[in-house]
Amino acid sequence: MNKIGIIGKPLSHTLSPEIHNSAINYFNLDLIFEKWELEKVNLKQFFSEAIKKNILGGCITIPHKENVLEFFNDYDDSVKRIGAANWFKIENNKIKGFNTDFKGFERCIPITLLRNIPEKKCIVFGAGGSSKAVVEALYINKAKNITIVNRTIEKAKSISDKYKNIEIKVAELYSPETLKNEIENADLIINTTSVGMSSGPDPKGNLIGGYNLKKNVTGIDLVYSPSRTPFLKTISHFDGTVVDGVEMLIYQAQIGFEILTEKKCPVEIMKTALKLN
Ligand code: ATR
Repeated sequence: MNKIGIIGKPLSHTLSPEIHNSAINYFNLDLIFEKWELEKVNLKQFFSEAIKKNILGGCITIPHKENVLEFFNDYDDSVKRIGAANWFKIENNKIKGFNTDFKGFERCIPITLLRNIPEKKCIVFGAGGSSKAVVEALYINKAKNITIVNRTIEKAKSISDKYKNIEIKVAELYSPETLKNEIENADLIINTTSVGMSSGPDPKGNLIGGYNLKKNVTGIDLVYSPSRTPFLKTISHFDGTVVDGVEMLIYQAQIGFEILTEKKCPVEIMKTALKLN
């Protein structure tokens, strides 16, 4: 039987099987969804065997959105611009990468905020594959005031350096004095790191704990397990608008599933599978 699935590590928290199985059942497709929990060193073997194992494609999550690129034969435009992929599709014995995080994230930004994004101050925590998609979406929507905050400053700089016609600021995660002014004046704060993720390295961590946020701040957390992360609880504490990671998870999944199967599953079906409706 043909297979689709998810590549990542850890995968104990993933909701992707529920989401995609709901779409497979909705269209009554002859497909199974598998979990491929892989270390970086195992990716080469996985992709070299994928074609003969009847794999049609799948999604890619933390920490492999950049690691997978060297194993692809072709890249969608979105991957070329962003430098990270969260989906792959195998067709005619060729592996092609796609990035649906970009569109998924864009749909998560509340519409009034999105319209006014050029005047808003945006902070992006993290500088991995997800951060690249988020920064690109902010840039395409003409955000002019973006700061990338990361533990490893060089990774933040390398994203910022890609953008020649706006200045994207960078800041080191553990420099509270520099960060205070940035974070306390932010209108939109996005967490793309795994801090706060139940099966991640720092489940109780909160990158905005201890700051005095603006009253009407919006917080988007890409972490979806738990749905109310410490990060989002802080946003709520300041009466901010909260967007949890399930939103983006569903939107990127809908677009990715359509790329693989050419069928657009209603988001309500996917949400029902997670018992969110
Ligand atoms: P993804 O592809 O989903 O973006 P990734 O490329 O592994 O995943 O990126 C994870 C991000 O989370 C990185 O920015 C990482 O910081 P470093 O670049 O310094 O590695 C950040 N991250 C992971 N664990 C963290 C932690 N305990 N504290 C702070 N940042 C962390």
